[in-house]
Amino acid sequence: RVPQPCALVVFGITGDLARKKLLPAVYDLANRGLLPTNFALLGLARRDWGDTEFAELAREAARKNARTPWREEVWDRLAASVHFVPGSFDDDNAFDELAGALQELEGSHGIGGNAAFYLSIPPAMFPVVLKQMQRTGMAESTPGRWRRVVVEKPFGEDLASSRELNALVDSVFSAEDVFRIDHYLGKETVQNLLALRFANTLFEPIWNGHNVDSVQITMAEDVGIGGRAGFYEKTGAARDVLQNHLLQLLALTAMEEPVEFSAEEIRTEKLKVLRAVSLPGDLGTFAVRGQYEPGWLAGERVQGYREEDGVDAESTTETYAAVRLGVETRRWAGVPFYLRTGKRLPRRVTEIALVFKRAPHLPFADTDTEELGNNQLVVRVQPDEGVTLKFGSKVPGSVMEVRDVSMDFLYGEQFTESSPEAYERLLLDVLLGDATLFPRNAEVEASWAVIDPLEEFWSGTAPHPYRAGEWGPRAAEEMLAAEGRRWRRP
Ligand code: BG6
Repeated sequence: RVPQPCALVVFGITGDLARKKLLPAVYDLANRGLLPTNFALLGLARRDWGDTEFAELAREAARKNARTPWREEVWDRLAASVHFVPGSFDDDNAFDELAGALQELEGSHGIGGNAAFYLSIPPAMFPVVLKQMQRTGMAESTPGRWRRVVVEKPFGEDLASSRELNALVDSVFSAEDVFRIDHYLGKETVQNLLALRFANTLFEPIWNGHNVDSVQITMAEDVGIGGRAGFYEKTGAARDVLQNHLLQLLALTAMEEPVEFSAEEIRTEKLKVLRAVSLPGDLGTFAVRGQYEPGWLAGERVQGYREEDGVDAESTTETYAAVRLGVETRRWAGVPFYLRTGKRLPRRVTEIALVFKRAPHLPFADTDTEELGNNQLVVRVQPDEGVTLKFGSKVPGSVMEVRDVSMDFLYGEQFTESSPEAYERLLLDVLLGDATLFPRNAEVEASWAVIDPLEEFWSGTAPHPYRAGEWGPRAAEEMLAAEGRRWRRP
Protein backbone atom coordinates (compact mmCIF):
# COMPACT_ATOMS: atom_id res chain seq x y z
CA ARG A 1 0.00 0.00 0.00
CA VAL A 2 1.16 3.52 -0.79
CA PRO A 3 0.13 6.42 1.48
CA GLN A 4 -2.00 9.29 0.25
CA PRO A 5 -0.20 12.41 -1.00
CA CYS A 6 1.37 14.04 2.05
CA ALA A 7 4.20 15.98 3.63
CA LEU A 8 6.56 14.81 6.35
CA VAL A 9 7.78 17.58 8.62
CA VAL A 10 10.71 16.78 10.88
CA PHE A 11 11.57 18.92 13.90
CA GLY A 12 15.16 18.27 14.88
CA ILE A 13 16.14 17.33 11.36
CA THR A 14 19.83 18.03 11.97
CA GLY A 15 19.98 15.65 14.94
CA ASP A 16 21.43 12.17 15.22
CA LEU A 17 18.19 10.26 14.84
CA ALA A 18 17.16 12.16 11.72
CA ARG A 19 20.51 11.57 10.06
CA LYS A 20 20.97 7.94 11.06
CA LYS A 21 17.42 6.67 10.80
CA LEU A 22 14.74 9.02 9.49
CA LEU A 23 16.32 10.42 6.34
CA PRO A 24 17.63 7.00 5.23
CA ALA A 25 14.16 5.56 5.92
CA VAL A 26 12.56 8.20 3.70
CA TYR A 27 14.98 7.32 0.92
CA ASP A 28 14.42 3.57 1.35
CA LEU A 29 10.66 4.06 1.17
CA ALA A 30 11.07 6.10 -2.01
CA ASN A 31 13.38 3.47 -3.45
CA ARG A 32 10.89 0.71 -2.78
CA GLY A 33 8.14 2.76 -4.43
CA LEU A 34 6.29 3.16 -1.13
CA LEU A 35 6.02 6.95 -1.08
CA PRO A 36 3.22 8.74 -2.89
CA THR A 37 4.21 10.59 -6.05
CA ASN A 38 3.09 13.80 -4.38
CA PHE A 39 5.32 13.91 -1.35
CA ALA A 40 7.29 16.65 0.37
CA LEU A 41 9.92 16.57 3.10
CA LEU A 42 10.25 19.61 5.33
CA GLY A 43 12.68 20.37 8.10
CA LEU A 44 12.86 23.11 10.69
CA ALA A 45 16.02 23.76 12.66
CA ARG A 46 18.17 26.55 13.95
CA ARG A 47 20.59 26.64 11.01
CA ASP A 48 21.12 29.35 8.54
CA TRP A 49 20.36 27.09 5.63
CA GLY A 50 18.41 27.14 2.43
CA ASP A 51 16.74 24.22 0.65
CA THR A 52 19.97 23.34 -1.17
CA GLU A 53 22.11 22.96 1.96
CA PHE A 54 19.36 20.93 3.60
CA ALA A 55 18.98 18.71 0.56
CA GLU A 56 22.73 18.10 0.62
CA LEU A 57 22.72 17.06 4.31
CA ALA A 58 19.74 14.83 3.70
CA ARG A 59 21.37 13.24 0.67
CA GLU A 60 24.59 12.48 2.53
CA ALA A 61 22.70 11.03 5.50
CA ALA A 62 20.52 8.90 3.28
CA ARG A 63 23.38 7.69 1.13
CA LYS A 64 25.46 6.70 4.14
CA ASN A 65 22.77 4.85 6.07
CA ALA A 66 20.21 3.59 3.55
CA ARG A 67 19.37 -0.13 3.53
CA THR A 68 18.50 -0.31 -0.15
CA PRO A 69 20.98 0.30 -3.00
CA TRP A 70 21.72 3.88 -3.85
CA ARG A 71 20.02 5.21 -6.95
CA GLU A 72 20.72 8.82 -7.75
CA GLU A 73 17.51 9.25 -9.77
CA VAL A 74 15.40 8.23 -6.76
CA TRP A 75 17.10 10.82 -4.63
CA ASP A 76 16.82 13.50 -7.33
CA ARG A 77 13.06 13.03 -7.41
CA LEU A 78 12.91 13.37 -3.61
CA ALA A 79 15.26 16.34 -3.55
CA ALA A 80 12.88 18.29 -5.77
CA SER A 81 10.36 18.33 -2.93
CA VAL A 82 12.66 19.10 -0.01
CA HIS A 83 12.11 22.31 1.90
CA PHE A 84 13.96 23.84 4.84
CA VAL A 85 12.70 26.47 7.27
CA PRO A 86 15.42 28.10 9.41
CA GLY A 87 14.46 29.16 12.91
CA SER A 88 14.21 28.18 16.52
CA PHE A 89 11.21 26.53 18.16
CA ASP A 90 10.11 29.70 19.93
CA ASP A 91 10.29 31.74 16.76
CA ASP A 92 6.76 32.64 15.64
CA ASN A 93 7.99 33.72 12.21
CA ALA A 94 9.57 30.34 11.52
CA PHE A 95 6.32 28.54 12.33
CA ASP A 96 4.29 31.00 10.26
CA GLU A 97 6.66 30.30 7.40
CA LEU A 98 6.31 26.57 7.92
CA ALA A 99 2.52 26.82 7.90
CA GLY A 100 2.75 28.94 4.75
CA ALA A 101 5.10 26.43 3.12
CA LEU A 102 2.68 23.59 3.87
CA GLN A 103 -0.17 25.54 2.37
CA GLU A 104 1.82 26.34 -0.71
CA LEU A 105 2.82 22.71 -1.17
CA GLU A 106 -0.84 21.75 -1.16
CA GLY A 107 -1.09 23.48 -4.50
CA SER A 108 2.35 23.14 -6.00
CA HIS A 109 2.97 19.53 -4.91
CA GLY A 110 -0.60 18.37 -4.66
CA ILE A 111 -0.07 17.01 -1.14
CA GLY A 112 -3.71 17.56 -0.32
CA GLY A 113 -3.02 19.18 3.04
CA ASN A 114 -1.99 15.90 4.69
CA ALA A 115 1.04 16.10 6.96
CA ALA A 116 2.87 14.10 9.61
CA PHE A 117 4.99 16.01 12.13
CA TYR A 118 7.91 14.12 13.60
CA LEU A 119 9.12 15.44 16.98
CA SER A 120 12.70 14.24 16.93
CA ILE A 121 13.53 16.60 19.79
CA PRO A 122 14.06 16.39 23.56
CA PRO A 123 10.75 16.12 25.47
CA ALA A 124 11.54 19.43 27.19
CA MET A 125 10.97 21.08 23.81
CA PHE A 126 7.58 19.42 23.20
CA PRO A 127 5.46 22.14 24.87
CA VAL A 128 6.88 25.00 22.84
CA VAL A 129 6.66 23.13 19.52
CA LEU A 130 3.16 21.82 20.19
CA LYS A 131 1.96 25.28 21.17
CA GLN A 132 3.36 26.73 17.98
CA MET A 133 1.58 24.07 15.98
CA GLN A 134 -1.64 24.81 17.79
CA ARG A 135 -1.25 28.56 17.29
CA THR A 136 -0.73 28.22 13.56
CA GLY A 137 -3.57 25.71 13.14
CA MET A 138 -1.09 23.16 11.80
CA ALA A 139 -2.21 20.39 14.12
CA GLU A 140 -5.81 20.28 13.00
CA SER A 141 -7.16 17.33 11.06
CA THR A 142 -10.21 18.37 9.08
CA PRO A 143 -12.46 16.27 6.88
CA GLY A 144 -10.34 15.35 3.89
CA ARG A 145 -7.04 16.36 5.46
CA TRP A 146 -5.10 14.47 8.11
CA ARG A 147 -2.51 15.87 10.47
CA ARG A 148 -0.52 13.41 12.62
CA VAL A 149 2.23 13.71 15.17
CA VAL A 150 5.03 11.27 15.86
CA VAL A 151 6.57 11.37 19.31
CA GLU A 152 9.91 9.80 20.13
CA LYS A 153 10.76 8.16 23.42
CA PRO A 154 11.49 8.78 26.25
CA PHE A 155 7.92 9.82 26.97
CA GLY A 156 8.73 11.59 30.21
CA GLU A 157 11.01 10.46 32.98
CA ASP A 158 8.45 8.97 35.37
CA LEU A 159 4.73 8.34 35.60
CA ALA A 160 3.86 11.90 36.60
CA SER A 161 5.82 13.58 33.83
CA SER A 162 4.63 11.09 31.21
CA ARG A 163 1.04 11.84 32.22
CA GLU A 164 1.71 15.54 31.77
CA LEU A 165 3.33 14.93 28.41
CA ASN A 166 0.53 12.70 27.23
CA ALA A 167 -2.06 15.25 28.34
CA LEU A 168 -0.21 17.96 26.48
CA VAL A 169 0.07 16.00 23.24
CA ASP A 170 -3.56 14.90 23.54
CA SER A 171 -4.69 18.49 24.01
CA VAL A 172 -3.27 19.42 20.62
CA PHE A 173 -3.84 16.25 18.56
CA SER A 174 -6.69 13.80 18.81
CA ALA A 175 -5.72 10.38 20.14
CA GLU A 176 -5.90 8.59 16.77
CA ASP A 177 -3.47 11.10 15.27
CA VAL A 178 -0.74 10.51 17.87
CA PHE A 179 1.97 7.96 17.06
CA ARG A 180 4.36 7.12 19.90
CA ILE A 181 7.41 5.41 18.50
CA ASP A 182 9.00 2.42 20.13
CA HIS A 183 11.28 1.30 17.34
CA TYR A 184 11.55 -2.26 18.69
CA LEU A 185 7.99 -2.82 17.52
CA GLY A 186 9.15 -2.02 13.99
CA LYS A 187 11.62 -4.90 14.04
CA GLU A 188 10.60 -7.79 11.87
CA THR A 189 11.33 -10.46 14.47
CA VAL A 190 9.31 -8.68 17.12
CA GLN A 191 6.28 -8.77 14.86
CA ASN A 192 7.08 -12.37 14.12
CA LEU A 193 6.41 -13.17 17.77
CA LEU A 194 2.74 -12.67 17.01
CA ALA A 195 2.92 -14.82 13.90
CA LEU A 196 4.78 -17.52 15.79
CA ARG A 197 2.24 -17.59 18.56
CA PHE A 198 -1.03 -17.03 16.75
CA ALA A 199 -0.51 -18.46 13.26
CA ASN A 200 0.61 -21.87 14.53
CA THR A 201 -0.86 -24.61 16.64
CA LEU A 202 2.46 -25.88 17.86
CA PHE A 203 3.52 -23.29 20.39
CA GLU A 204 0.41 -21.83 21.98
CA PRO A 205 -0.56 -24.94 24.00
CA ILE A 206 2.78 -24.84 25.82
CA TRP A 207 2.98 -21.04 26.08
CA ASN A 208 1.96 -20.80 29.73
CA GLY A 209 2.95 -21.39 33.32
CA HIS A 210 2.08 -25.09 33.20
CA ASN A 211 5.01 -25.66 30.86
CA VAL A 212 7.20 -22.59 31.08
CA ASP A 213 9.59 -22.40 34.01
CA SER A 214 10.75 -18.84 33.36
CA VAL A 215 11.23 -16.27 30.63
CA GLN A 216 14.44 -14.37 29.96
CA ILE A 217 14.38 -11.21 27.90
CA THR A 218 17.80 -9.84 27.09
CA MET A 219 18.80 -6.69 25.24
CA ALA A 220 22.58 -6.54 25.30
CA GLU A 221 24.73 -3.97 23.57
CA ASP A 222 28.48 -3.98 23.13
CA VAL A 223 28.59 -0.23 22.51
CA GLY A 224 28.98 2.31 25.28
CA ILE A 225 27.03 5.54 25.42
CA GLY A 226 28.71 7.09 22.39
CA GLY A 227 28.34 10.87 22.34
CA ARG A 228 25.09 10.82 24.31
CA ALA A 229 26.38 11.56 27.82
CA GLY A 230 24.09 14.58 28.21
CA PHE A 231 21.02 12.44 27.62
CA TYR A 232 22.24 9.25 29.25
CA GLU A 233 23.47 10.76 32.52
CA LYS A 234 19.95 11.77 33.49
CA THR A 235 18.27 8.75 31.95
CA GLY A 236 20.12 5.50 32.65
CA ALA A 237 19.37 2.01 31.34
CA ALA A 238 16.04 1.51 33.12
CA ARG A 239 14.44 4.64 31.72
CA ASP A 240 16.21 4.39 28.38
CA VAL A 241 15.18 0.87 27.39
CA LEU A 242 13.64 -1.17 30.22
CA GLN A 243 10.64 1.16 30.44
CA ASN A 244 9.91 0.85 26.74
CA HIS A 245 11.63 -1.76 24.54
CA LEU A 246 11.89 -4.51 27.15
CA LEU A 247 8.42 -4.07 28.60
CA GLN A 248 6.95 -4.04 25.10
CA LEU A 249 8.74 -7.31 24.37
CA LEU A 250 7.36 -8.72 27.60
CA ALA A 251 3.85 -7.55 26.67
CA LEU A 252 3.99 -9.23 23.26
CA THR A 253 5.35 -12.42 24.79
CA ALA A 254 2.74 -12.63 27.54
CA MET A 255 -0.39 -11.20 25.91
CA GLU A 256 -3.50 -13.13 24.99
CA GLU A 257 -4.59 -13.57 21.39
CA PRO A 258 -6.12 -10.33 20.09
CA VAL A 259 -9.59 -10.56 18.60
CA GLU A 260 -8.12 -9.24 15.37
CA PHE A 261 -4.81 -7.88 14.14
CA SER A 262 -5.75 -4.24 14.61
CA ALA A 263 -4.32 -1.33 16.57
CA GLU A 264 -7.22 -1.30 19.00
CA GLU A 265 -7.16 -5.02 19.79
CA ILE A 266 -3.39 -5.50 19.99
CA ARG A 267 -2.91 -2.45 22.17
CA THR A 268 -5.73 -3.60 24.43
CA GLU A 269 -4.11 -7.00 24.97
CA LYS A 270 -0.66 -5.49 25.60
CA LEU A 271 -2.11 -3.03 28.07
CA LYS A 272 -3.72 -5.84 30.06
CA VAL A 273 -0.30 -7.46 30.46
CA LEU A 274 1.44 -4.25 31.44
CA ARG A 275 -1.20 -3.63 34.07
CA ALA A 276 -0.72 -7.17 35.37
CA VAL A 277 3.06 -6.80 35.81
CA SER A 278 4.20 -7.14 39.42
CA LEU A 279 7.47 -6.22 41.03
CA PRO A 280 9.32 -8.59 43.34
CA GLY A 281 8.83 -8.12 47.06
CA ASP A 282 12.55 -8.29 47.66
CA LEU A 283 13.94 -5.58 45.38
CA GLY A 284 17.32 -5.84 47.07
CA THR A 285 17.83 -9.27 45.50
CA PHE A 286 15.65 -9.12 42.40
CA ALA A 287 16.36 -5.67 40.97
CA VAL A 288 19.97 -5.02 40.08
CA ARG A 289 21.62 -2.10 38.42
CA GLY A 290 25.20 -1.82 37.27
CA GLN A 291 27.70 0.52 35.70
CA TYR A 292 30.56 -0.47 33.42
CA GLU A 293 34.16 -0.02 34.44
CA PRO A 294 37.13 -0.06 32.05
CA GLY A 295 37.64 -3.40 30.36
CA TRP A 296 38.27 -5.22 27.09
CA LEU A 297 35.93 -5.66 24.17
CA ALA A 298 36.82 -7.38 20.91
CA GLY A 299 40.50 -7.14 21.78
CA GLU A 300 40.36 -3.44 22.48
CA ARG A 301 40.67 -1.62 25.75
CA VAL A 302 37.58 0.49 26.45
CA GLN A 303 37.08 3.13 29.11
CA GLY A 304 34.68 2.97 32.00
CA TYR A 305 31.39 4.87 32.08
CA ARG A 306 32.71 7.45 34.53
CA GLU A 307 35.59 8.24 32.17
CA GLU A 308 33.32 8.86 29.18
CA ASP A 309 33.21 12.40 27.82
CA GLY A 310 30.59 14.46 29.60
CA VAL A 311 29.99 11.94 32.40
CA ASP A 312 30.36 12.95 36.04
CA ALA A 313 33.39 11.22 37.61
CA GLU A 314 31.12 10.19 40.51
CA SER A 315 28.10 9.36 38.40
CA THR A 316 25.60 6.86 39.79
CA THR A 317 23.72 6.45 36.53
CA GLU A 318 23.21 2.79 35.63
CA THR A 319 24.32 1.34 32.31
CA TYR A 320 22.91 -2.08 33.22
CA ALA A 321 19.57 -3.05 34.71
CA ALA A 322 18.04 -6.41 35.49
CA VAL A 323 14.80 -7.19 37.24
CA ARG A 324 12.56 -10.15 37.98
CA LEU A 325 8.97 -9.35 37.13
CA GLY A 326 5.79 -11.34 37.47
CA VAL A 327 2.69 -11.26 35.27
CA GLU A 328 -0.33 -11.79 37.47
CA THR A 329 -2.65 -13.59 35.08
CA ARG A 330 -3.92 -17.15 35.03
CA ARG A 331 -1.55 -17.96 32.17
CA TRP A 332 1.57 -16.64 33.87
CA ALA A 333 1.06 -16.61 37.64
CA GLY A 334 4.24 -17.87 39.30
CA VAL A 335 6.46 -17.60 36.22
CA PRO A 336 9.35 -15.19 36.65
CA PHE A 337 10.12 -12.88 33.75
CA TYR A 338 13.78 -11.94 34.03
CA LEU A 339 14.59 -8.79 32.06
CA ARG A 340 18.07 -7.42 31.55
CA THR A 341 19.76 -4.79 29.47
CA GLY A 342 23.23 -3.32 29.47
CA LYS A 343 25.85 -1.44 27.57
CA ARG A 344 29.41 -2.67 27.05
CA LEU A 345 28.35 -6.29 27.39
CA PRO A 346 30.26 -8.89 25.35
CA ARG A 347 28.04 -8.67 22.28
CA ARG A 348 25.02 -7.05 20.72
CA VAL A 349 22.10 -9.40 21.05
CA THR A 350 18.41 -9.13 21.77
CA GLU A 351 16.43 -12.28 22.47
CA ILE A 352 13.39 -13.64 24.21
CA ALA A 353 13.90 -17.09 25.69
CA LEU A 354 11.15 -19.31 27.04
CA VAL A 355 12.78 -21.78 29.36
CA PHE A 356 10.58 -24.84 29.84
CA LYS A 357 10.18 -27.00 32.91
CA ARG A 358 12.31 -30.10 33.09
CA ALA A 359 10.86 -33.53 32.43
CA PRO A 360 9.44 -34.69 35.76
CA HIS A 361 11.10 -38.04 35.43
CA LEU A 362 13.72 -39.66 33.16
CA PRO A 363 12.89 -43.29 32.37
CA PHE A 364 16.33 -44.50 31.29
CA ALA A 365 18.45 -46.11 33.96
CA ASP A 366 22.14 -45.16 34.01
CA THR A 367 21.60 -42.38 31.52
CA ASP A 368 24.21 -39.71 31.27
CA THR A 369 22.20 -36.47 31.29
CA GLU A 370 24.84 -34.12 32.52
CA GLU A 371 24.58 -32.00 29.40
CA LEU A 372 20.82 -31.99 29.28
CA GLY A 373 19.34 -28.65 30.21
CA ASN A 374 15.83 -27.25 30.11
CA ASN A 375 14.11 -27.17 26.74
CA GLN A 376 14.17 -23.63 25.41
CA LEU A 377 12.50 -21.68 22.67
CA VAL A 378 14.53 -18.62 21.77
CA VAL A 379 13.31 -15.82 19.56
CA ARG A 380 16.37 -13.94 18.36
CA VAL A 381 15.37 -10.36 17.66
CA GLN A 382 18.84 -9.34 16.50
CA PRO A 383 21.32 -10.00 15.03
CA ASP A 384 20.96 -13.35 13.13
CA GLU A 385 17.20 -12.97 13.30
CA GLY A 386 15.50 -16.29 13.80
CA VAL A 387 14.12 -18.85 16.21
CA THR A 388 15.98 -21.64 17.96
CA LEU A 389 14.50 -24.63 19.71
CA LYS A 390 16.73 -26.36 22.19
CA PHE A 391 15.95 -29.89 23.31
CA GLY A 392 17.63 -33.10 24.39
CA SER A 393 18.71 -35.78 21.95
CA LYS A 394 20.47 -39.11 22.20
CA VAL A 395 24.15 -38.97 21.47
CA PRO A 396 24.98 -41.63 18.85
CA GLY A 397 26.65 -44.66 20.41
CA SER A 398 26.00 -47.81 22.37
CA VAL A 399 25.18 -46.11 25.67
CA MET A 400 22.23 -43.92 26.47
CA GLU A 401 23.57 -40.43 26.71
CA VAL A 402 21.23 -37.48 26.21
CA ARG A 403 22.39 -33.95 25.60
CA ASP A 404 21.10 -30.64 24.28
CA VAL A 405 20.88 -29.99 20.56
CA SER A 406 19.30 -27.11 18.71
CA MET A 407 17.07 -26.64 15.73
CA ASP A 408 17.45 -23.31 14.01
CA PHE A 409 15.29 -21.16 11.80
CA LEU A 410 17.23 -18.28 10.30
CA TYR A 411 15.51 -15.47 8.43
CA GLY A 412 18.46 -15.13 6.10
CA GLU A 413 18.16 -18.75 4.99
CA GLN A 414 14.40 -18.99 4.55
CA PHE A 415 13.56 -15.67 2.98
CA THR A 416 15.06 -13.79 0.07
CA GLU A 417 13.16 -10.61 0.96
CA SER A 418 15.23 -8.18 3.00
CA SER A 419 13.69 -6.84 6.23
CA PRO A 420 12.91 -3.15 6.21
CA GLU A 421 14.68 -1.16 8.89
CA ALA A 422 12.41 -0.58 11.91
CA TYR A 423 12.10 3.15 11.27
CA GLU A 424 11.26 2.58 7.64
CA ARG A 425 8.39 0.31 8.57
CA LEU A 426 7.12 2.63 11.28
CA LEU A 427 7.36 5.77 9.18
CA LEU A 428 5.35 4.07 6.47
CA ASP A 429 2.71 3.09 9.04
CA VAL A 430 2.47 6.69 10.24
CA LEU A 431 1.86 7.90 6.69
CA LEU A 432 -0.71 5.13 6.20
CA GLY A 433 -2.37 5.97 9.51
CA ASP A 434 -1.88 2.46 10.91
CA ALA A 435 -1.22 2.64 14.66
CA THR A 436 -0.94 -1.11 15.31
CA LEU A 437 2.78 -0.96 16.09
CA PHE A 438 2.62 2.16 18.27
CA PRO A 439 2.05 2.01 22.02
CA ARG A 440 -0.99 3.82 23.32
CA ASN A 441 -0.61 6.44 26.09
CA ALA A 442 -2.07 4.07 28.70
CA GLU A 443 0.66 1.52 27.85
CA VAL A 444 3.34 4.13 28.33
CA GLU A 445 1.87 5.07 31.68
CA ALA A 446 1.47 1.46 32.81
CA SER A 447 5.15 0.93 31.96
CA TRP A 448 6.22 3.91 34.03
CA ALA A 449 4.20 2.52 36.91
CA VAL A 450 6.58 -0.48 36.80
CA ILE A 451 9.71 1.65 36.62
CA ASP A 452 8.90 4.30 39.25
CA PRO A 453 9.22 2.00 42.30
CA LEU A 454 12.51 0.66 40.92
CA GLU A 455 13.93 4.13 40.50
CA GLU A 456 12.76 5.05 43.95
CA PHE A 457 14.39 1.98 45.42
CA TRP A 458 17.64 2.69 43.61
CA SER A 459 17.79 6.41 44.30
CA GLY A 460 20.66 7.37 46.53
CA THR A 461 22.41 4.02 45.99
CA ALA A 462 25.40 3.30 43.77
CA PRO A 463 25.12 0.82 40.90
CA HIS A 464 27.17 -2.40 41.05
CA PRO A 465 30.32 -2.13 38.97
CA TYR A 466 31.00 -4.60 36.14
CA ARG A 467 33.92 -4.78 33.81
CA ALA A 468 33.26 -3.74 30.20
CA GLY A 469 33.14 -6.91 28.12
CA GLU A 470 31.51 -8.98 30.88
CA TRP A 471 27.87 -10.01 31.25
CA GLY A 472 26.98 -7.43 33.90
CA PRO A 473 27.53 -7.34 37.67
CA ARG A 474 27.78 -10.40 39.85
CA ALA A 475 24.63 -9.34 41.71
CA ALA A 476 22.69 -10.08 38.51
CA GLU A 477 24.03 -13.65 38.49
CA GLU A 478 23.13 -13.98 42.15
CA MET A 479 19.64 -12.79 41.43
CA LEU A 480 18.95 -15.86 39.28
CA ALA A 481 21.05 -18.17 41.43
CA ALA A 482 18.82 -17.23 44.38
CA GLU A 483 16.09 -19.21 42.62
CA GLY A 484 18.31 -21.96 41.26
CA ARG A 485 18.50 -20.54 37.74
CA ARG A 486 21.14 -19.10 35.43
CA TRP A 487 21.15 -16.45 32.74
CA ARG A 488 21.57 -17.73 29.25
CA ARG A 489 24.81 -16.88 27.48
CA PRO A 490 23.39 -15.82 24.13
C1 BG6 B 1 17.48 3.29 21.83
C2 BG6 B 1 18.26 3.64 23.08
O1 BG6 B 1 16.11 3.41 22.07
O2 BG6 B 1 17.79 1.97 21.43
C3 BG6 B 1 19.75 3.41 22.88
O3 BG6 B 1 18.02 4.98 23.44
C4 BG6 B 1 20.02 2.03 22.32
O4 BG6 B 1 20.46 3.62 24.09
C5 BG6 B 1 19.14 1.75 21.11
O5 BG6 B 1 21.38 1.96 21.96
C6 BG6 B 1 19.29 0.34 20.61
O6 BG6 B 1 18.57 0.16 19.43
P1 BG6 B 1 18.92 -1.03 18.44
O7 BG6 B 1 17.84 -0.97 17.40
O8 BG6 B 1 20.30 -0.76 17.90
O9 BG6 B 1 18.90 -2.29 19.24
